[in-house]
Amino acid sequence: MPTNATLKLDNVEYSLPIMVGTEGEKAVDIRNLRNDSGYVTYDEGYGNTGSCQSAVTFIDGEAGILRYRGYPIEQLAEHSSFIETAYLIVNGELPLPAQRKRFSQLLTENSPIHSGMEHLFEGFPSDAHPMAILSAMLNSLGSYYPHLATNDHQRDLETYEATSAVIISKVRTIAAYSYRASRGLPYIHPRRDLPYCENFLHMMFSTPYEPYIALPEVAQALNLFLLLHADHEQNCSTSTVRMVASSGANLFASAAAGVCALWGPLHGGANMAVIEMLKSIHAEGDDGTKFIEQAKLGKADKRLMGFGHRVYKHYDPRAKIIKESFYSALASLGIKDDPLLNIAMRLEEAALRDEYFLARKLYPNVDFYSGLIMRAIGIPENMFTVMFAIGRMPGWIANWKEVAANRKGRIYRPRQIYTGHNLRDYVPPHKRTA
Ligand code: CMC
Repeated sequence: MPTNATLKLDNVEYSLPIMVGTEGEKAVDIRNLRNDSGYVTYDEGYGNTGSCQSAVTFIDGEAGILRYRGYPIEQLAEHSSFIETAYLIVNGELPLPAQRKRFSQLLTENSPIHSGMEHLFEGFPSDAHPMAILSAMLNSLGSYYPHLATNDHQRDLETYEATSAVIISKVRTIAAYSYRASRGLPYIHPRRDLPYCENFLHMMFSTPYEPYIALPEVAQALNLFLLLHADHEQNCSTSTVRMVASSGANLFASAAAGVCALWGPLHGGANMAVIEMLKSIHAEGDDGTKFIEQAKLGKADKRLMGFGHRVYKHYDPRAKIIKESFYSALASLGIKDDPLLNIAMRLEEAALRDEYFLARKLYPNVDFYSGLIMRAIGIPENMFTVMFAIGRMPGWIANWKEVAANRKGRIYRPRQIYTGHNLRDYVPPHKRTA
């Protein structure tokens, strides 16, 4: 394999080093290109740009491969749990029994939130979106732990174990409290005896006079949902976390920024958008046929939500796993004839046969099924993206660490191709024309 690429610009040849990742991914290193030639590269949307070196997650979108720290997602989904996988992602290795126990203890100890924070929820209007609350609360959380949020990367790295446990544990409490606040319901405190997912469902759905006991299938479906979302390489929110981290910002602030990036319908908001799409198809009396025709016109507001992916040009491996567990969760919940589910299945079938979707390699992604699963287990729609954020937290944390620990790292600062006005003189107000 060549070690250098040659680029010819204005009749000058530049030798650019070639980099190869551990899975054979090849890249041309252009770090000195602007200094040497005056040129920058242009890659809107970064589809051809490696923004960093990372050892967390490997994706081969063409082959439908996803691995966390080298372990195939299929094996983790079958044998691991969200918490064990979170440990793996955050710390790089599967935990030894004592490490696993300590991690659980840290999560349990950290599950309650400061009573001062409970009052913060009251300041939000009752119809505030839980994603807005979550990002604000995560950022505020750092102010309750100033020694973990110093904005000095070396100091923040020394407390990484504690900070990651605080965030992974409390994000679920904050999420459940934001739901309770939005419904005007009293907060239900976490319990020491419940595992992660069961504890979350308890904080969401118990009442002061009746505990909610999660069906094992429901807790398992949630566990799998979170595990499948735990990391996904350099997507929009993870890149945002890294961007914020590169300025020296602490983990709380960086994760809060990740929540904001995740909110949009093209990213984490897609699971909610899928259900909204299915509902509007149902309300219009369509069986999905009309909608598919509109989606093929290429209008952004008529996209088939839950279809397509920037990196997967084959089936999303997460979608395959979640689809299988989806049917068993539905069976154990006794859900058979749901009109939205029927529309979803028809859409899936039709799109998988349609030339438009085949030619563009648009297959169902994880969000096509995850919204339906969330709905089946009783999570309200506006919480779907919050659930994604709880799942993605380990990935954001691990990516923050890579940035913080890189002593040679530079602040992320892309260039642009300026297309605005050339130099012109200031016009006083009385001389301006429309
Ligand atoms: N429905 C209809 N047409 C589509 C869709 C869709 N869902 N997605 C892409 N296309 C078309 C698009 O119009 C374009 O057609 P043409 O070549 O004729 O102009 C072509 O496919 C390529 O699309 P693109 O916008 O260049 O693809 P992208 O890589 O920029 O976007 C995407 C990826 C996921 C944002 C997009 O497929 C999409 O909007 N999907 C629906 C939203 C969704 O489900 N998002 C969740 C992604 S999975 C969760 C996560 O990992 O964040």
